Amino acid sequence: MSVVIAGGHGRVALMVSRLLADRGERVLGIIRRPEQAGAVRAAGARTLVSDLATTTVEQCTQYVDGARAVLFAAGAGLGDALGRADPVDHDAAVAIADAAELAGVRRFVMLSAMGADPARHYPVDPLVETFLRAKGRADENLVARGALDTTVVRPGWFRDGPRTGGVHLAESTGPGEIARADVAAVLAALLTVSSTTPRVLELTAGTTPVAEAVARFAPPLPDTG
Ligand SMILES: NC(=O)c1ccc[n+]([C@@H]2O[C@H](COP(=O)([O-])OP(=O)(O)OC[C@H]3O[C@@H](n4cnc5c(N)ncnc54)[C@H](OP(=O)(O)O)[C@@H]3O)[C@@H](O)[C@H]2O)c1
Repeated sequence: MSVVIAGGHGRVALMVSRLLADRGERVLGIIRRPEQAGAVRAAGARTLVSDLATTTVEQCTQYVDGARAVLFAAGAGLGDALGRADPVDHDAAVAIADAAELAGVRRFVMLSAMGADPARHYPVDPLVETFLRAKGRADENLVARGALDTTVVRPGWFRDGPRTGGVHLAESTGPGEIARADVAAVLAALLTVSSTTPRVLELTAGTTPVAEAVARFAPPLPDTG
């Protein structure tokens, strides 16, 4: 299996699967309900049913063993009870990262969110605050690991609609929205490069073609003379 996607039934994750499968990658999507398997298979991926909120590091290590990269694209969503973000947005991300290290998978791409911050204050919406704090703690954990080549992607608010092909990927973009299809294209491109500098990038709609936007932060291609 070349790429493992945690949260394989997510709207962004399904688009990433399709992009990866179309270029010949073998993709495994981790989902939490068997009835989600058909949609994931239709996007070109194999499936594995496992609730990330309760999966152990040992199980995760088996799931990612042999992969060349991991994408964490799961999220608890904002429609659930207060505090529910932690088991998925923080704990599961850390467990999958532990597993990637144990399995020797270096490349790790994290779908985070703009504003993620362990100390985030967002009194107008406690659910958003819980979510952004959990994401922020997970991001901090991930980027501190020397054994992983992590890229944390922090997009602005998602909207639906077709891929535009242009993005703004930068250390700091300022606030903005972005189509899920463009987010998926950036994640798929990031999964083709071995690392980025810096490790944390914000993402909004923009005008730079995706491949060019990602290449700006990726290691240069080796000089073949
Ligand atoms: N919405 C925004 O504006 C925004 C902006 C920036 C970043 N983000 C981040 O981007 C993520 C992906 O966005 P999206 O639109 O693709 O969201 P989505 O469609 O809600 O996808 C999230 C996926 O995570 C899965 N998941 C949640 N808990 C799980 C668990 N315990 N075990 C296994 N899978 C689990 C969900 O499974 P089910 O299908 O079973 O629910 C869902 O498929 C969000 O979750 C959020 O963290 C969102």
